[in-house]
Amino acid sequence: MSGEHGQPLGLPAPVRRSLLAVLVVAVAVASDACDASVGDAAALAAAVKRAGSDACVGRTSTVAVTADIALAAPVHVWANASVSLVGPRAISGAGDHGLFVTRGRLALSGLRLADGAAASGGCVFVGAGGSLAASNASFVRCAAANYGGAIYASGAEVALRNVSFARTSAAYVGGAVSATTRSSVRVVDCTFEATTVTRAAAGGGALALMMSEATIVASAFLGTRSAAAGGALYVEDESNCSVSRSLFRATSAASSGGAVALVGGGSLAVEDTVFEGAAAKRSGGAVLMSGGAAAAVGATFDRCVAAVGGAVHLEAQLATSTSGSGTRIASDLDLRRCAFSSCRATAGDGGGVSLGDGGSTARVGDDTSFVNCSASKDGGGVASAGRATLGRGLVFRGNVAETGGGGGAYLRNVSGSLVVRDAVFAENRCRTSGGGLFVEFQASKPSVVGARAARSRWRDSPARARRTALGGAGT
Ligand SMILES: *[C@@H]1O[C@H](CO)[C@@H](O)[C@H](O)[C@H]1NC(C)=O
Ligand SMILES: *[C@@H]1O[C@H](CO)[C@@H](O)[C@H](O)[C@H]1NC(C)=O
Ligand SMILES: *[C@@H]1O[C@H](CO)[C@@H](O)[C@H](O)[C@H]1NC(C)=O
Ligand SMILES: *[C@@H]1O[C@H](CO)[C@@H](O)[C@H](O)[C@H]1NC(C)=O
Ligand SMILES: *[C@@H]1O[C@H](CO)[C@@H](O)[C@H](O)[C@H]1NC(C)=O
Ligand SMILES: *[C@@H]1O[C@H](CO)[C@@H](O)[C@H](O)[C@H]1NC(C)=O
Repeated sequence: MSGEHGQPLGLPAPVRRSLLAVLVVAVAVASDACDASVGDAAALAAAVKRAGSDACVGRTSTVAVTADIALAAPVHVWANASVSLVGPRAISGAGDHGLFVTRGRLALSGLRLADGAAASGGCVFVGAGGSLAASNASFVRCAAANYGGAIYASGAEVALRNVSFARTSAAYVGGAVSATTRSSVRVVDCTFEATTVTRAAAGGGALALMMSEATIVASAFLGTRSAAAGGALYVEDESNCSVSRSLFRATSAASSGGAVALVGGGSLAVEDTVFEGAAAKRSGGAVLMSGGAAAAVGATFDRCVAAVGGAVHLEAQLATSTSGSGTRIASDLDLRRCAFSSCRATAGDGGGVSLGDGGSTARVGDDTSFVNCSASKDGGGVASAGRATLGRGLVFRGNVAETGGGGGAYLRNVSGSLVVRDAVFAENRCRTSGGGLFVEFQASKPSVVGARAARSRWRDSPARARRTALGGAGT
């Protein structure tokens, strides 16, 4: 607006002032042309379309939704448009439609999105380069024939704050949200309730990640379900997921990973989070690891149940390439300050944790406890056929191996020496050998340093020289 020599338009001051006023009014009019108040589906579609026009691209068009609206057709946010839809109102997909974001930006606040339906992303589809930010919002009964019951993101960004999802569903992955192809998802203060994956294919009753990343903070997963794996979360294909200060309650999977399934590489970091009453039919009542690394600090697992690995189960994933050759992706678990209580393996090993094969590694780290866990076979607290190491300050109390050995823990195929330091084994029971700890050694015996074993006797099992049973014998 300045002239070349800092002389604004070279006009006398009063004229300049009035001209400025006219310009300000003109700008305000332009804003109004992009912003809008809408009360029906046609006005909503027109306002969102206008946000993608040359006049409005480059700014955010704020669209106030002033009445509950039922869509008559899908609404598209086009490339480079930025639209903010503001409630408090409801937008219904009338069981047939949703919102599409194609390389644009959509913000939703104070809105309730209900009854949307689409192939993927029942209520919102976010394509490559697009973004969705929702706050103070809810998604109810959105349904996808394929992926992402409420939201599907492909190469996109999704930020959710104070959003609730209830009874949304997808056939294959992500009962509420599915993120693929390097999407990133941020979930803060959100609730997922009874969201589901309905077919026995992949999983993630609430959220599925494929080659994507997610951060979940202070959120709750309540009764979410998967007809396959991952009752709440399905983390596949080198995806990375972190969860802190969150709650998983009564989530379930018809196959494995009642709360979380980590599959095919990638990582899971869990902090100060509670898994309560998570259940899986096969393995990993709370968490299944089938290739990948997981670290949990300050996690609680209470009353989790599966056939094998009542709370956590690790196995190596056998990935088959197109050439037909198989590669194994190992699983690696690191536990610190975790508490396992009343978890149960109903038809196998590891009431708390089971390492199902030689390729997996688990560090049952410092200050972790197993209390009142039980396995129908070996290892009331922990059963390992892989490489397990024990940290300091472990507590195994009141665990049971009902028909096998190792009431507290059963460790197979241990090579080198095993150090058990400052551990408490108390009141554990089993049927065969090793009321507290049963170790099968490949080579030397374990060195046991400073363990306090209340009500346990530490002794060698006479049965086999390379087996060492610590703690009172069974029954
Ligand atoms: C969107 O913006 C980018 C970069 O500013 C531009 O290259 C592209 O042509 C725009 N697309 C549309 C459809 O306007
Ligand atoms: C969400 O709601 C809270 C409380 O009603 C309000 O303070 C906040 O500004 C809202 N945030 C957004 C982004 O709408
Ligand atoms: C969360 O969103 C709801 C609307 O869905 C609103 O009533 C509530 O005040 C919000 N809470 C916070 C803390 O922003
Ligand atoms: C997950 O983290 C690993 C290691 O930091 C990284 O190599 C990989 O690209 C990440 N995955 C995604 C989808 O960003
Ligand atoms: C011990 O665990 C079982 C489940 O295996 C549960 O039914 C029982 O109530 C628990 N006992 C205590 C004292 O927590
Ligand atoms: C036992 O451990 C060794 C090396 O630690 C490994 O090579 C072998 O395959 C393991 N055996 C079983 C049955 O897991």
